[in-house]
Amino acid sequence: MCWIFAYNGKKNAIPLLVEGLRTLEYRGYDSAGIAAVNEKKEIFLEKATGKVSNLASKVQKNPHAKDTYQAGIAHTRWATHGKVTLENTHPHVSENERFYVVHNGIIENYMGIKNILEKKYHFYGDTDSEIIAKLIEDSFDGDLLSTVTTVCEKMVGAYAIVVMDKENPSTIIGAKLGSPMIVGEGDDGVFIASDINAISHVAKEFVSLEDGETVVITDGKKEIYSLGERIIKTSEVIDHNQEMVDKGNFDTFTEKEIYEIPEVIKNVCKWRIDFEKKEIINETLESLGDHEIKRIEIIASGSSYFAGQVGSYWLKTLAGIPTEVRISSEFLYDTFLPHKKTLYIFISQSGETADVRECLKMVKAKWCLTFGIVNVVGSTIARMCDLGLYSHAGVEVGVASTKNIIGQYGVLLLLALSLWIKRDLQIHQCKTIIEELWNLPDTFELQLQQANTYKEIAKKYAKYPSMFFLGRNILYPVAAEGSLKLKELSYIHSECYSTGELKHGPLALIDKNTPSFVLNLKGIMQEKTISNVREIQARNGKVIGIITSGEDKSLYDDMIEVPETSAIVSPFLPLVPIWIMSVEIAKTLWRDVDKPQNLAKSVTVE
Ligand code: F6R
Repeated sequence: MCWIFAYNGKKNAIPLLVEGLRTLEYRGYDSAGIAAVNEKKEIFLEKATGKVSNLASKVQKNPHAKDTYQAGIAHTRWATHGKVTLENTHPHVSENERFYVVHNGIIENYMGIKNILEKKYHFYGDTDSEIIAKLIEDSFDGDLLSTVTTVCEKMVGAYAIVVMDKENPSTIIGAKLGSPMIVGEGDDGVFIASDINAISHVAKEFVSLEDGETVVITDGKKEIYSLGERIIKTSEVIDHNQEMVDKGNFDTFTEKEIYEIPEVIKNVCKWRIDFEKKEIINETLESLGDHEIKRIEIIASGSSYFAGQVGSYWLKTLAGIPTEVRISSEFLYDTFLPHKKTLYIFISQSGETADVRECLKMVKAKWCLTFGIVNVVGSTIARMCDLGLYSHAGVEVGVASTKNIIGQYGVLLLLALSLWIKRDLQIHQCKTIIEELWNLPDTFELQLQQANTYKEIAKKYAKYPSMFFLGRNILYPVAAEGSLKLKELSYIHSECYSTGELKHGPLALIDKNTPSFVLNLKGIMQEKTISNVREIQARNGKVIGIITSGEDKSLYDDMIEVPETSAIVSPFLPLVPIWIMSVEIAKTLWRDVDKPQNLAKSVTVE
């Protein structure tokens, strides 16, 4: 997505802006740009297509980069309107070259505004964002705050904007609706960013702006306004962490994050499970007992949606609660039948995904009970939900989600266990599953030690143009996650089907050039899956089996063995090998593992 960063304070803005963009780059990397202004009302402007490193080298070559600019705005773009060109790269500028703007979001009525403004102004690009700069020039009433407020009233859609005025270099103004905006304060000044991670190394405390709020930063001091009135918001202390900028000994953040999985499952359970007593001890889960929950709807996108599907098996099988999982972008435009005894669960790593956020707004507007499973602390979705548990995966920089999914699985299983106990008092069976959760970190460690075996197998399959991922029952959404990860990281075409569904059409695509990853674990329709494997092999299709250790290996062309667990815990086991193999295939094909083409970490537009 597009992400913004801005600074106003004592130091030279340029290096701070470039560094800020580097930390945000994983969220959108089609192009990047910065604009800064100094006391003499001189502007520094650089833009580059491609990665932030391209911008950084342009900035480095610019002889003015070392001058002092006390205010500046910066942007990294994920193209929505218009191609990846310098013209479409932010910051955008008004025709009189006075107002500079960066924008994250989508202005839905931009064509209508543009049609009117085109009669007076020349448009150099195709973005919806450019109209904001022109609109500010057109609406300017001598006061930037009142002008920005007027402009915001004219725009429909989602936005976080920061505006800089060449004639008033001591001030920048930020405003938001829908898209995230964090304002951080440090010793050297005030920062605006889309994401707290971008400022955690420079700011000590922060506030998150709510929709309709505006921040005015003058000479390193901030003032926040809501509906034209100045308001005081309490700042929160920033939890400084360096893990985000450091890949350690790994080639990529994605690999580092896969190796953090044993810690993630420990963090998910910490303070929520008493492993000695084998009991769930979480107050939030406990408080769900105060509500009569007859149905559950889970709303999410992408990998979080597939995690939701795994969770729905747990909620149905253990807690006995009818559970439906909905793709957020579909749920939003489907007929919504609010139900007071339904618990609405929103799953999101970033906590900013626009499709999910808008569904949450819709559900909240009907006063239904909402529960968030979010990774990024303090993010919009986390703040909006009535109740929730963090997935506690830590910062995830790799655009493809990995370790966070383990956190999501962990929270969903805890939720299902806790609702199960409340209904059926199946304490003994619950204790057995808790024991298995206790063993999971060691299991993951052992899998990580097998990484070279997985990589050797992966290398053999990098040459194939297309693959299948197959699984049944609770392993079907796990296969879907595997398929998404392979295509996202390697750009190899991959499809996921329920293994039993193959014969209803997709089998037509199976031949010697289309291998299949088949998830076939003990206790989950093993015999039926074996019959499906034979159907593939009868058509010369290769099969990579992900199977329970000790089972018959002779069936498969290649196989990954995972330890035996109960069927309930089995979805945790195939992911580490599949992700390591997907990364290896991607590396063999020279893909950018951390920043796959066309993608962005956090999708803040619908
Ligand atoms: C896939 C991936 C995406 C996200 C999806 C939802 O690896 O990362 O499919 O899962 O964009 O994002 P969140 O979870 O942030 O709402």
